[in-house]
Amino acid sequence: MILGRGVIYRYSKEPIFNGAEFFVGKGEKVGLVGQNGSGKSTLFKLIMGEEYPDEGSVKVDGTVLGVPQEVKHDEQMEKAASVRDYIDPKHQKEDYELRRLLAKLELGEYDLSDKPVKMSGGQKTKLAIVRALVASPDVLLLDEPTNFLDTAGKQWVMDFLGKYPKTLLIISHDLNLLDKSIDKILEVNGQSKKLDEYKGNYTDYVKLKGEKDALLVRQIHVQERHIVRMKKGWLKMSHVKSEKGVRQKLQLEKRIVAMEESLPTMPSEAKKFKIKLPEPSWVGSIPLMMSGINKAYGTKKVLTGVDFDIKRGERIALVGQNGAGKSTLIKIIMGMQEADSGEVYKDEKLVIGYYSQEFETFDFDKTLLETIKDVCSMPEQTLRGHLGRFLFGADKVNQKVKTLSGGEKTRLAIALLLGQNFNLLVLDEPTTYLDVLSQRLILEALKGYSGAMILVSHTPEFITELKPNRKFYLPENRWE
Ligand SMILES: Nc1ncnc2c1ncn2[C@@H]1O[C@H](COP(=O)(O)OP(=O)(O)OP(=O)(O)O)[C@@H](O)[C@H]1O
Ligand SMILES: [Mg+2]
Repeated sequence: MILGRGVIYRYSKEPIFNGAEFFVGKGEKVGLVGQNGSGKSTLFKLIMGEEYPDEGSVKVDGTVLGVPQEVKHDEQMEKAASVRDYIDPKHQKEDYELRRLLAKLELGEYDLSDKPVKMSGGQKTKLAIVRALVASPDVLLLDEPTNFLDTAGKQWVMDFLGKYPKTLLIISHDLNLLDKSIDKILEVNGQSKKLDEYKGNYTDYVKLKGEKDALLVRQIHVQERHIVRMKKGWLKMSHVKSEKGVRQKLQLEKRIVAMEESLPTMPSEAKKFKIKLPEPSWVGSIPLMMSGINKAYGTKKVLTGVDFDIKRGERIALVGQNGAGKSTLIKIIMGMQEADSGEVYKDEKLVIGYYSQEFETFDFDKTLLETIKDVCSMPEQTLRGHLGRFLFGADKVNQKVKTLSGGEKTRLAIALLLGQNFNLLVLDEPTTYLDVLSQRLILEALKGYSGAMILVSHTPEFITELKPNRKFYLPENRWE
């Protein structure tokens, strides 16, 4: 059981939670939703006792275990002598059961006796999830557990969680995969800074929420029309001189201001996005060409005889399951890894912008504004405008990068890429951590980019909407 009463929590002046109340019963399965940066991960920290509310209380019964959104340094993992020691310290499971779990979370290449240190960020996160599933606490908190999985892996994890016999709180953009098992949705309401409860499963929530937003949009329109009428009235009074008239005019003015201030903010999905981007720098007609690329890790052949090329301004989608060699191909393109054999030709004017969840180049101690100033040579006002279009308002630009939420970091990374004039963008899963609104925003921004693009994404709508000119399938090594 979890009980929150009158929770107030703030990082800075503006509170993240302001009098939030919530209750999760024993054995309930709850989806926690809310826009990027609304405070979901913060709520998990409050439940786990890693942070304390400034006011109010959070009580939890039983054992709690949470897997954070990004596992970078996990002391237990670093200390563990082997994968087995880390994922099953109490020896609750047989080896074959553990191997099965590892395989399901796409960690099959690791042996129970391996040391878990050399794994990538995504793999560490998946390993931490395996550990949590083995430990089976009374209250399990999972912050976007399916991010690093491909479609089959996602489905398996969600099926597993659907059968979880104890209390489960899960933050995810894939809650439809868990639909049958969800008892209720808690939403961090970005305006009231409270938690709204929606009984029923995720589909019910989406429907209810949609109706609520539609109603709000209608109310806003009514109120806006009223304001326009009042303003017209006020204009007509512009010539009044009498004392009474002036007083009336002042009163009307106050009413208009009050009404404008009380106007609720439009639900974000209803807003329109338009993002203007700098032109990509000039490059030859075939910026990149590769032929006969071979690459193996030990005895495992990942790429065999791959021929790959991209034309100026062309969009290519790289398609394949996790482990099919997409990231290896990308790393060879980026020059981060060398092929065993084969040729790579790059136009000398080629400048590549690279995004990967695993590859963070941020200086975490800088602020957003300092970060963008380092890479984009534009006047500060323009840079502020650019950040603003990616939803980082004036209140955010002086925040340090290390304190950004998961989705905010992804959004910043893409904003930085699109603020420079690369002529090829290589995007490896650019939607990780993004909420619906940010995905839409990034998608619209990318649509406006006229340079070439290589895209890897497990979000099918994302690929469809970006209308790739060609698709390259791995491991089949085939164009379509
Ligand atoms: N130390 C800090 N100082 C200032 N602001 C912070 C700090 N830590 C977090 N924030 C801000 O608090 C807000 C809530 O962050 P949180 O990580 O809880 O969001 P979230 O709902 O988990 O978002 P996401 O979906 O992107 O993961 C964000 O806007 C974040 O930038
Ligand atoms: Mg988060």
